[in-house]
Amino acid sequence: MKATVLVSGGAGFIGSHVTVELANAGYNVLVADNMSNCDMTNYEGVCRILGYKPEFVQMDFCDPAACRSLFETHKIDAVIHFAAYKAVGESCSEPLMYYRNNLLSFINILEQSKLQGGCNVLFSSSATVYGETDKLPVTEQSPRQEATSPYGNTKQMCEDILRDSVKAYPGIKGIALRYFNPIGAHPSALIGELPRGVPNNLVPFITQTAIGKRECLSVFGNDYPTPDGTCLRDYIDIVDLAKAHVCAVSRMIDEKMKQSYEIFNIGTGRPVSVLELINSFEKVNNLKLNWKFAPRRSGDVVAIWADPTLAEKELGWKAERSVDDTLKAAWEWEKHIAGK
Ligand code: UD1
Repeated sequence: MKATVLVSGGAGFIGSHVTVELANAGYNVLVADNMSNCDMTNYEGVCRILGYKPEFVQMDFCDPAACRSLFETHKIDAVIHFAAYKAVGESCSEPLMYYRNNLLSFINILEQSKLQGGCNVLFSSSATVYGETDKLPVTEQSPRQEATSPYGNTKQMCEDILRDSVKAYPGIKGIALRYFNPIGAHPSALIGELPRGVPNNLVPFITQTAIGKRECLSVFGNDYPTPDGTCLRDYIDIVDLAKAHVCAVSRMIDEKMKQSYEIFNIGTGRPVSVLELINSFEKVNNLKLNWKFAPRRSGDVVAIWADPTLAEKELGWKAERSVDDTLKAAWEWEKHIAGK
């Protein structure tokens, strides 16, 4: 019988790509989302890519009764938890909203995983837990820094909640994947990132500027101590990132874990500057982007990129797509959305 994987937040940007890759790998995927930060576009795209409709449940994981009922009516082998708020700035102005939503939903999922027993939990963490660091690239052993936003703090707290739960409840095993900067879209252009309002992240801002939805991209800071003065990040293709989840889920379900709680960096290992990303976007898509330098954005770290060695060794996963291909896919997706 196929193993069932619950994807909380499965109608969102990362969740929809993970749903496709899990289904392609032969898993039965149960998609659950409260639709608070997305519409049905990505779920419908997933159905078109797969040629069938994975089961979809509209529910809020902060509701313990709804969470219990989902686990009581389905035999769930693994959960991948994406259902969380993710805007760094908003988390600073609405910290309680972030703590309530991001922590409660995860606690409810762990509670049900514990009751059910034999459930594996994958948490979507972030490179934000490393903060500003001189020692680059970062490995999973690099120390975490104090979080600079409530959003970042919820990532650290959820990692700790998972680590402690796994230690206390033998029925649960856990993996935290620390993503670097996920970008791009599915090559079909049927699923992708759909930010509400003005995008905070670089690539959606670039594609919206290119299509004319935004007038001009501001490049935050030109005097950082980097080769071209702009920040360095590790931009990871969304389909590559989604595949890492399939590797992690199979490691848990097939009982290949070396410890009951493991952490992996999910990045390419290549630093790319903001200007390099813009140049590459212009070149591969054959267009000119309207951009200007602007002051530094508060809270930005100068540079961060992954050492992805552990994921390659233990998960058998490696980033494959080039930044150029990823930026082509991001642009195809933007055009698809504009034409809808
Ligand atoms: C942020 C979050 C990270 C989260 C990620 C999701 C922090 C500190 N950062 O990362 O946790 O996982 O989003 O993808 O918590 N930039 C511009 N102009 C723009 C937008 C961005 O120049 O309009 C620059 C930024 O200064 C930065 C780079 O582009 O150097 C990437 O920014 P962004 O896409 O927002 O990601 P991060 O801040 O790295």
